[in-house]
Amino acid sequence: MDRIIVNGGGPLNGQIPIAGAKNTALKLMCAALLTDEPLTLTNMPRLSDVRTLTTLLESLGVEVACLQEGKSMVLSAAEITNKTAHYDIVRKLRASFNVFGPMMGRCGEAVVSLPGGCAIGARKVDLHLSSLEAMGAKIDLREGYVHASAQGGLKGAEIEFPFVSVGATENALCAAVLAKGTTVLKNVAREPDTVDLAHCLMEMGADIEGAGTSTMVIRGVDRLHGATHRCITDRIELGTWMIAPAITGGSVELLGGTRAIVASLADKMEEAGVTIAETATGLVVTRDPNTQVKAVDVTTAPFPGFPTDLQAQMMALMCTATGTAVLEETIFENRFMHAPELIRMGAQIDTTGNTARVTGVDKLRGAPVMATDLRASISLILAGLAAEGETIVSRVYHLDRGYEHVVRKLRGVGATIDRVKEE
Ligand code: EPZ
Repeated sequence: MDRIIVNGGGPLNGQIPIAGAKNTALKLMCAALLTDEPLTLTNMPRLSDVRTLTTLLESLGVEVACLQEGKSMVLSAAEITNKTAHYDIVRKLRASFNVFGPMMGRCGEAVVSLPGGCAIGARKVDLHLSSLEAMGAKIDLREGYVHASAQGGLKGAEIEFPFVSVGATENALCAAVLAKGTTVLKNVAREPDTVDLAHCLMEMGADIEGAGTSTMVIRGVDRLHGATHRCITDRIELGTWMIAPAITGGSVELLGGTRAIVASLADKMEEAGVTIAETATGLVVTRDPNTQVKAVDVTTAPFPGFPTDLQAQMMALMCTATGTAVLEETIFENRFMHAPELIRMGAQIDTTGNTARVTGVDKLRGAPVMATDLRASISLILAGLAAEGETIVSRVYHLDRGYEHVVRKLRGVGATIDRVKEE
């Protein structure tokens, strides 16, 4: 197991390229199950989550070829040879559950392991199951697995989600594209990841209206065909690296970034005193190293609200602000695990339930800290960039799940950061 060592305190200047979006890429890969023709995906991020999902898809009979060191992939599900998504893989990667909708759409049957608990919350899958039941699937939960089948195939249905779920929207969408008749999905996720999945499905021949709004109408078609699709830019990686110069001072251009995909974050950062400019090639984020950012309150919400996946990074920034910021987490019930680690670095944070009150300090101080999940890990690296002295982040395998080349990208803008093997 590796550790990352950061020697903080200096400003960051330069450019960081932003990769393709993890949470889009994983769903696009699952969509390959819907056709017997090859699906070519470009602008793919090189991440351990992508490799884990590749292993799962291969176990179902999908042939996966990686080109350009993994930046492009060709997925060919000519035949689905196995309809069971095994616990050994699903427990490592919850997004594996996104094979459920495509498998039901294509085969009318699937056995998928329940993903189990997660560090950030209970993360139930009841909405995934009830939406497939509404389309005619019979579901039986046995020995930790969902056994689902729809004799004669799925049928279109009208489904209103009680609250927004990204994963349930995507599973229902993928199941509906090959169902008989029309499916109306109400109160769906409007996340760019979900919209890009819908676009890819349309390029494969699906008939979908309303992607990006809260209602989608899907008219089932007999078959989908192959396509070539470019994965969108990762708005969470973009937002993360926007916070880097904001926390250290300096000026960094995030190549490939646009304001539209991070508008809720950009608005809050500007309120905090950070300058953000859109250029022809990306977004430039600037903060004078001689000033401090101001505290701003943040409440997480489904898109276009403030993303839960940027809450930990925003908390790190608020640790260095003037005043007290109130951060409210409304999506997951246990997503403040980074707070005790930030406190080890001198931060002042009080958490009660789903609310964290963060009072800024003049300087964070480096310390050994432990990563607990993907976004928590990167918030500790951001804090380390701003802290005086050495921060040692252990359990960095969490980072490899969702961030490409962290050390290379941060060194490129002047950070003193290294990755070493843990003894
Ligand atoms: C996706 O998870 C992302 N993961 C998460 O990113 C992200 O935090 C989340 O959406 C919210 O934006 C992927 O896309 C792979 P949800 P997902 O279903 O689909 C509850 C990261 O760091 N719920 O929108 O699992 C659930 O427990 C990750 O990259 C039910 O109760 O999120 C949560 O409280 C972490 N029943 C809320 O809804 C259900 O059937 C929203 O979850 C489904 C969800």
